[in-house]
Amino acid sequence: MAGKLKVLLDCDPGHDDAFAIIVASKFAEILGVTTVAGNAPLDLTTKNARVVLDICGASSVQLHSGASRPLVAEPIHAAYIHGESGMDGANFAAPSRPADSSDAVHFIIETVRANPGVWLVPTGPLTNIALALRVAPDLVENISGISLMGGGRFGNRTAMAEFNIWCDPEAASAVFDSGAKIVMSGLHLTHQIMATPARIEMVRNAHSVVGPKLAGLLEFFSKMYKSLHDDFEGAPLHDVCAVLALTHPQFFGSSERHVAVEIDGAITRGMTVIDYRHVVSRAKANTTVLETIDADAAFGAIVEAIRACPER
Ligand code: BDR
Ligand code: CA
Repeated sequence: MAGKLKVLLDCDPGHDDAFAIIVASKFAEILGVTTVAGNAPLDLTTKNARVVLDICGASSVQLHSGASRPLVAEPIHAAYIHGESGMDGANFAAPSRPADSSDAVHFIIETVRANPGVWLVPTGPLTNIALALRVAPDLVENISGISLMGGGRFGNRTAMAEFNIWCDPEAASAVFDSGAKIVMSGLHLTHQIMATPARIEMVRNAHSVVGPKLAGLLEFFSKMYKSLHDDFEGAPLHDVCAVLALTHPQFFGSSERHVAVEIDGAITRGMTVIDYRHVVSRAKANTTVLETIDADAAFGAIVEAIRACPER
């Protein structure tokens, strides 16, 4: 494992979370996976994470479930995109192992303190991360940063709010204001990497066992996206970007910006307000906002990670 970046994944699988875990298992050292309610209720996102760890032969990686609801907002899930299971579209074997605990927050705190320099990679609502930073503010000094999928120049759940931020705006606000270095994969980035029909075939052919199942996930995900949009070729693989931003930074273009989360606005609650102004009085940048991705190269890395899954 020497040389691989250490990451803690906090996720709500979720089709695209599943691909993020698979990519991290190939190109990073996963110190643990924590789950949060988001795309589906917590019991389902946790079950899905257990399934995905089996797929990529990472069943010995620690897995802890965490927050079953946002800090303040009412819990709302995303069956309209991910199906009732949170990962509809393929039949997977029952997971081989249970979660190690339901105390994700303390697992995050202890793991960061034992592994200074680790990256946090949240790809769901930021509830667990905000709670960990609240209990242990020293984490900010001990992590390399937080590479998250969320926000963007426009929204998907509302005109201005992206789902992960919109689910728990208070948590997201605390994370962006924490002083940690943030790398943000927002919608204006992630919509550049779509699961087109040709790419879904690449996934199908990448692995004799899991390839067809992962292709099934992408077909379902894409069908849902296409039914809800008038101009999409397939589903965006949002969450993979938060992992690739660390393992393959050469795929990305970025800019340094100040980002804050709107928690009050009647029609903008959950918006990431990115300061693109040139005025010298603008707030100091707290976020590397990823702006562009080489989608073909990124998809090549995804396929390489799928090829590395064990034959079972
Ligand atoms: C985000 O919301 C979820 O549907 C996806 O898993 C991704 O993390 C995109 O808005
Ligand atoms: Ca997600």
